[in-house]
Amino acid sequence: MDHKRILVTAALPYANGPIHIGHLAGCFLPADIYVRYQRAQKKDIKFVCGSDEHGVPITIRARKEGTTPQAVVDKFHNMIKESFKDMNISFDIYSRTSNANHHKTAQDFFTKLYNDGVFEEKETEQYYDEEAKAFLADRYIVGTCPVCGNENAYGDQCEKCGSSLSPEQLKNPRSALSNATPVKKKTKHWYFPLNKYEDFLNKWIVDGKKDEWKPNVYGQCKSWLDNGLQPRAMTRDSDWGVPVPLTDAEGKVLYVWFDAPIGYISATKELTPNWADYWQQEDTKLVHFIGKDNIVFHCIIFPSMLKAHGGYVLPDNVPANEFLNIEGDKVSTSRNWAVWVHEYTQDFPDQQDVLRYVLCANAPETKDNDFTWKDFQDRNNSELVAIFGNFVNRAFVLMHKLCGGKVPPLHEDVLDDADKDLIEAIKAAKVSVEHNIEHYKFRDALFEVIDLARKGNKYMQDKEPWKVVKTLEEQPENQKLIDNCLHLCLQLCANLSILVNPFLPDTAQKMLHMMKVVERMLDWENAGKLDLLKVGYPLRAPELLFKKIEDEQVAAQVEKLHANLKENTISKEETTNIAPVKDEISFDDFVKMDLRAATIIHAERVPKTDKLMKIDLDMGFEKRTVVSGIAEHYNAEEIIGKQVTVVANLAPRKMRGIESKGMILMAQDDNGKLIFVSPADKATAGSEVK
Ligand code: 2FM
Ligand code: ZN
Repeated sequence: MDHKRILVTAALPYANGPIHIGHLAGCFLPADIYVRYQRAQKKDIKFVCGSDEHGVPITIRARKEGTTPQAVVDKFHNMIKESFKDMNISFDIYSRTSNANHHKTAQDFFTKLYNDGVFEEKETEQYYDEEAKAFLADRYIVGTCPVCGNENAYGDQCEKCGSSLSPEQLKNPRSALSNATPVKKKTKHWYFPLNKYEDFLNKWIVDGKKDEWKPNVYGQCKSWLDNGLQPRAMTRDSDWGVPVPLTDAEGKVLYVWFDAPIGYISATKELTPNWADYWQQEDTKLVHFIGKDNIVFHCIIFPSMLKAHGGYVLPDNVPANEFLNIEGDKVSTSRNWAVWVHEYTQDFPDQQDVLRYVLCANAPETKDNDFTWKDFQDRNNSELVAIFGNFVNRAFVLMHKLCGGKVPPLHEDVLDDADKDLIEAIKAAKVSVEHNIEHYKFRDALFEVIDLARKGNKYMQDKEPWKVVKTLEEQPENQKLIDNCLHLCLQLCANLSILVNPFLPDTAQKMLHMMKVVERMLDWENAGKLDLLKVGYPLRAPELLFKKIEDEQVAAQVEKLHANLKENTISKEETTNIAPVKDEISFDDFVKMDLRAATIIHAERVPKTDKLMKIDLDMGFEKRTVVSGIAEHYNAEEIIGKQVTVVANLAPRKMRGIESKGMILMAQDDNGKLIFVSPADKATAGSEVK
């Protein structure tokens, strides 16, 4: 179908923390490239996004920090918005789901489905905290993992062993709100009967999208459909979210995955009075850019909601990316294993394009990929600096030196094969960049751009105008050869600025400035043309487009990553709750434990960790080393001389290559700070604690 307009959405990020480069690589950067390209094609296109401000993790964070959910989302909404701006992600609107327009849009959507009798009402038993007087979302139920015995597993997942759980499977369940043992209580919710939409989905996806959608996206949909769909509750018991617009629904809100995708509609409404054209006209092309963890919501649930409502277009495509790992490890926000965008833009000011380049050149389009700082440096230094930047710089420097600072003419009579090949390469690059972007293959598209610059370098190297100039005295007609070489190199620069613009918009702007041409030159229809710069037109001196990234910069980033890593993270939530008393042990069990008083004689932080301290102890009868997770709470100097209590007969354990012989006993204060369990008066080092 010929589309009249395009609506692009990028997954609304949770306003529950800052964004990291995995978010950028997953959906925001590819969406931005696609949109910038379509804008250059003069398409009628809108690009909408916003913060996803509901859901249980936000309420948990607020409780942990002793603040309100609204305060949490206000903070992160602004921070995320700023990061996008700094990275030149060019949304037409960046909205948020806590605003009134969204609440109304989501409620109206729900009401329409309700009035049409779409929902099934069901009463089920769910865990309830009688002290806090609240139903408990799975995340709010903590208990012992049936798989690994972790005492702080959540009702939906054990973060220690990764098992996915249901609250019923936890042993000794307790409420994260009050620590009370939860009871089962009846509650009513509204279910969307996904099972009734199987036929529609099978027809639309399996029959219609198999060859159009990326194999990873199609594959996930197919397996959901093959397994059969179940009704899903679209409401929750909570006081944070969009209130359910029914009279008998006190204390109930819309399920975050019901309201969030409607956020795309709300944002479009906020953007333009013509919003309905983009959502309800058949000739709109709707494209959802997302990460792979969002596939089911965008390909199965939201389309079924739209279908049930009626009158809406369905997504034409849902190009989902896989995940980006960091230095060989999965991104983990709780362990702080991530490269945060706001930190990048601080550490590398004005180098957004470098990160955009690396994340696109190495995008996880078909499989999970790895980001390493070494690769970041290599790609910058050997591709952006040595190929692209170098080519543009040489073309400008030589034009100033050998052609009087002006665009030289092209002399058809002396065009040779190398010139003609370069002209063909420029035309071919346009076609193939275009084809790749239209098919959501942004890596391949970017490769073509760099490859064209590479060809430019080779062409110039072969032509050697700096040598030809030395022949002019004897053969003045050779000026024509120099002119042709630089004429073509400069037209190639103009083409490169157009082709690179969707990917590296800042670089394209710098090039426009050097060429003294207006923004309009970047229109896509100009790509492939060889008369973009007028003969005789004076150009500016070159600007440095990219600069080398030094080893020290990269080393500092790697160090920071490791220093920020939280080993064996225990959330504050877990630490401030009083743990239940463990099972009884016999006196014999107790006396097996050998506790001693000891004195700290030396301490130092274990490099590249932020928790671990290596501590040397005077045990009276010997000196020994233990590794203890207290470095977040103490400096090495302040603990030297302290008396502590040590489990002296614990089997030795290696941590970070250091053998730890024993364990220092610690308690915790109200803020979760670890404090030593020390003898109240001076004890003899080595004396037994009983
Ligand atoms: O996974 C996420 O980060 C979700 N906040 C994405 C929501 S996308 C859309 F539906 F709003
Ligand atoms: Zn477990």
